Amino acid sequence: MGGISKDTIASKYQLAFKNHYDLHSFCTAVSPGRINIIGEHTDYNLGLAMPIGINRWVCSVVSIRSDSKVNIYSCNFDKKVSLNISELDNHKDSWVKYSAGCVKILNESINASNGYDILVGGNVPIGFGMSSSAALEVSLLGALVQVLGLKIDKRNLLSLANKVEKDILGIKSGLLDQYASIYSKKDSPILIDFSSLTHLYVKSQIKEASWVLINSMVDRNLVDSKYNQRVEECQNALEKINTSQKNNLKINEISDFDLTLIKDNKVLYDRLHHILSENKRVKLMKNALESGNIHAVGKILNESHLSLAKKYDVSCKEINDILSISNKIEGFYGGRIMGGGFGGCCLCLVDDSKKDKFVTKVFEGFYNKYKYDLKVEFVKFSEGLSFFD
Ligand code: GLA
Repeated sequence: MGGISKDTIASKYQLAFKNHYDLHSFCTAVSPGRINIIGEHTDYNLGLAMPIGINRWVCSVVSIRSDSKVNIYSCNFDKKVSLNISELDNHKDSWVKYSAGCVKILNESINASNGYDILVGGNVPIGFGMSSSAALEVSLLGALVQVLGLKIDKRNLLSLANKVEKDILGIKSGLLDQYASIYSKKDSPILIDFSSLTHLYVKSQIKEASWVLINSMVDRNLVDSKYNQRVEECQNALEKINTSQKNNLKINEISDFDLTLIKDNKVLYDRLHHILSENKRVKLMKNALESGNIHAVGKILNESHLSLAKKYDVSCKEINDILSISNKIEGFYGGRIMGGGFGGCCLCLVDDSKKDKFVTKVFEGFYNKYKYDLKVEFVKFSEGLSFFD
């Protein structure tokens, strides 16, 4: 489904909505999955990151009801739930949790008890690390806001989506995924500063290379993973630094010198070391992309992976092996584990003319050791949230 355009996705699901609910008045919003070029685990540490939307989308079609019933149909799972407004909590299936969660959080934010007919569907692969859940939240919240005739305020959508993650899913996640899904602009990765929630667009001059996502197939569930533990470790490291010098620094104000104050605690030292060095790599990446220095881009990706694996301890042996196999293949510039980590996928930058051979060789090398097949996706940059009539 990778080659389908955003417009085709919107018409496909609008038609499905008409057929399913026999309704002809609705609002439609489409938003993309994302890759993160650089800046991993920096979002909840008020640092820098550089994600961008990709050409895989989730579409939500919504109509308002006159009663307080909430019907949600997922085209991907071909399943439907019919809920009362008081039953939007504690669901088992992720797609229900996320969709019902969006309705609950939005209704609460405007003190309303509206019911809706909802259809969701798309082509963001689930469990690949492309943030299908953020794309679902952003498109559904966007469509709900529009159907209610409220002003579309991107900042407000961002905080509503984050509230769904925190209050409904219990993940202490940052704003990276939702930010990318809302604000992306085609061809220009976004450099986000999470301390001020501001961004600028980077004009990449990298040509004749492809962004390749390789899925290790190692299950990566943020709720059960050590993601929240990493969030807490960074907070503890900050507290330790502040206590030792009776200060009240924010995490984005920590310097290399401050870091030395906790060097006796290797785990906390390593966690913050990753954050400080990753923020520097985001700035270096901006220069490398703007000057079209593809080898520098590759080097920064590799360095980021090393730091994520050794200092932040969020990689796994399968992804480390994919990358060490890749490093020996012609046409590979660099790569790293992407997203929350503990499995999932890695992002590689590969010469366009060599990408097919590259994938075959990685798959072969990996299969020889692990005896199962990897999955691959070639992705292109796309713009963020859009609405369709
Ligand atoms: C997940 C979270 C993001 C971010 C990344 C790591 O994707 O949802 O908020 O923290 O991990 O960079």
